[in-house]
This record gives sequence, C-alpha cells and structure tokens, in this order.
Amino acid sequence: PENVRVYEFAEKVNRSVGEVVKVLFALGMMVTKNDFLSKDEIEILAEEFGVEVSTMNPLDELDYVQAYDEVEDTHLEERPPVITIMGHVDHGKTSLLDRIRSAKVADREAGGITQHVGAYQVEKNGKKITFVDTPGHEAFTEMRARGAQATDIVIIVVAADDGVMPQTKEAIAHTKAAGVPFIIAITKMDKEGANPDNVKSQLAEMDVMATDWGGEYEFVPVSAYTGMGIDELLETILLQAEVMELKADPTRKAKAVVVESSLEKGFGPVANVIIKNGTLHVGDNVIAGKTYGRIKAIKMDDGSSVKEIGPSTPAAIVGLHDVPGAGDVLVAMDTEKEVRELAEKRAEYDRAKQLSKTTKASLDDLSALI
Ligand code: GTP
Ligand code: MG
Repeated sequence: PENVRVYEFAEKVNRSVGEVVKVLFALGMMVTKNDFLSKDEIEILAEEFGVEVSTMNPLDELDYVQAYDEVEDTHLEERPPVITIMGHVDHGKTSLLDRIRSAKVADREAGGITQHVGAYQVEKNGKKITFVDTPGHEAFTEMRARGAQATDIVIIVVAADDGVMPQTKEAIAHTKAAGVPFIIAITKMDKEGANPDNVKSQLAEMDVMATDWGGEYEFVPVSAYTGMGIDELLETILLQAEVMELKADPTRKAKAVVVESSLEKGFGPVANVIIKNGTLHVGDNVIAGKTYGRIKAIKMDDGSSVKEIGPSTPAAIVGLHDVPGAGDVLVAMDTEKEVRELAEKRAEYDRAKQLSKTTKASLDDLSALI
C-alpha cells in the first residue's frame, strides 16, 4: 500500500486540490499536489470537510501473516511450552536460568561453543521446555516485542530476601494484561533473611494468592545457588502446560517470532527465532518484517546444525538478506517471488514514510464517508 498524496486525498473526498492546499496553508502548512499527507494533516482536513476517515499503518497489519493464519491446521500435535522469565532487577532471573540450563544441557555443551540464540530448550521427564532469555533492565515494551508473542507461561521471579519491588508489580500487571498465566518463583532461598511468607503476603495484597493459601497461583521456592526447587519449578511448568493443551501443526509452513538478531562475520544476518507453528526447513523462502531470504542454515543452541525445526523450537537462522527486528514475525511462503515482492512493498512503504518524516496513512486503508 502507498501513502496518501494531496491530490489522492482530494479525489477521495470529492474536493479540489486547491481546497485541500488552502485549508492547510491557512494553518501554516505548505503542501503541494504530490506531497504525502501526515496523519495529523488528514485529521485536520477530515474535520474541515466534515468527512470521517479511518487511517491505519499497513506495517501494523501483517497482511502475509493474516493470509498464513487463514490456512487451517490439519495435523495438530502437542508442542513444548515457551516460558519467559520476568522480575525485578537483580532478583536472580539470569542465575535461575543458568542453573536450569547447566543442570540440563551441560553435557551437550561439552564439545562445542554455545550458540547464543537468546532462547533455549531443556528437557524434563522426556518433555521439552523452551525458555526465552530476557535481560532485566530492558523496557517492558521491548520485552513484549521479543518474548510475549511467543510466550505461553511467565515465571515471575521475586527474591526471598527483598520481597515485592516496583518491577515485580509491573511484570505482574503486564502479564495479567496480556492474559498469560504465571508462576511465582521465590528465589535466593539459601540467603539469610529469606522470608517467603513475606513475599506471599505482599503478593496476596495484589490479588496474587498462593495455592497453599487458598489462591490459584503456584509459588515455588528456589535457589540458583543450591539448586533447591529447580525440579519442582520445571514440574510446575509442565503441569501448567498440560492444562493449557498447547498444540501446533508441524506439517504446515513455518511461522516464527524473531527474538533477537545480529550481523555475524562469515554468516551475514542471523536471526534468533522461536517457531510458533509449522516446520521451518533449510531451503524455505521466508519473509521477516521488511527482509526476506532463503534459509541456508538452522543452528541449535548447542551449536549443531539441523535441516528442520518444529513448533516451540528456538534456533538461529542464516539466509536473510538483512537483519530483521526483534518481535518481527517470520513466515515461510511458497516462492522466492512472493517473499521478495512482499519485502519490496514493505521497504517501499518504509522509504516513503522516511521521506515524509511523519506517519502516513495508507490510501488503501483510508475510507471516506461523506
Ligand atoms: P538483571 O538481569 O540485572 O535484572 O538481574 P537478574 O534478575 O538476572 O539477577 P542475577 O541472576 O544477575 O542475580 C543478581 C545477583 O543475585 C547476583 O549477584 C547473583 O549471584 C545473586 N543471586 C542470584 N540467585 C541467587 C540465589 O539463588 N542465591 C543467592 N544467595 N544469590 C543469588
Ligand atoms: Mg539478568
């Protein structure tokens, strides 16, 4: 979709270009026939001419994702849960993840260098669990962009010696708003001054009541130092996942979320993704945000290369022409032509937007009711 130029808007609302230019000129805005209109300008004009317009940014409307979603799943199978860890700064998120990880994947790592994929998978009782690694200092919007699109369950970490802090509250508020179930991990239980009951009563005040206090939330006391509670936490996650009956169709084309991305020497653009549905294969034509490409390699978190990955699997992919953004959705399509044309369309829209400096409304999506 293109942006709306002055003359296009005039046509759409049955006015002359002169009238449109005059209205804006009166307000100190100089435009000519071929200029793009900003959202603000369109709103002013709509009011002046007594027309109703609705505008939307086509980049927010993931056309190709919608097309993908219209295809029905035909072979639903159980898939691993995707877990995001959140909590106040320094409450032990990374240490907890490291502990879970070292206990479960250390042997796999022995031979090689760990590929940093921003997310990784562990196995418990023969079931896989995917964890998304989100740094604590990051803004919640950014975190949402990365993890939330793929997240099934959130672990809210609260340090037993520190209790509920501002970011604990923020994390809970965002998780509740997103409608994502969460489990409380009371960390640093080995510390002197650890007071899990204090954490429970503080959270009860926020309507987050522990099951053993008659509420509906699972609280698991853990220590990254001693390993206390780690097994129980993993089991609690698996129980919750079972209730959710998480399913996906591995037989269809892949749809994935970009968790992070980078430019790597010798590889070019590398995107760390988590598969939401379908199976991604080496050789697939994919689009991710404004870039596209053909999958050349799929690397797992232990550094090994595989030919394909299924639902909830995190991996680093090589083959995109450019670096996609965190939170971008990656979709596999039938042909190189399809992904290229879509990517070009998006890049074109973006260029036009950059040129005109302000957010533009799309002509396609501009409906005028006189
Ligand atoms: P940010 O990512 O900065 O928000 O911090 P974080 O939540 O990831 O906390 P991190 O794991 O980096 O731990 C913060 C500090 O707490 C470090 O000094 C850890 O060694 C310490 N710590 C973490 N877990 C435990 C624990 O279980 N017991 C004890 N005694 N200390 C811990
Ligand atoms: Mg951390």
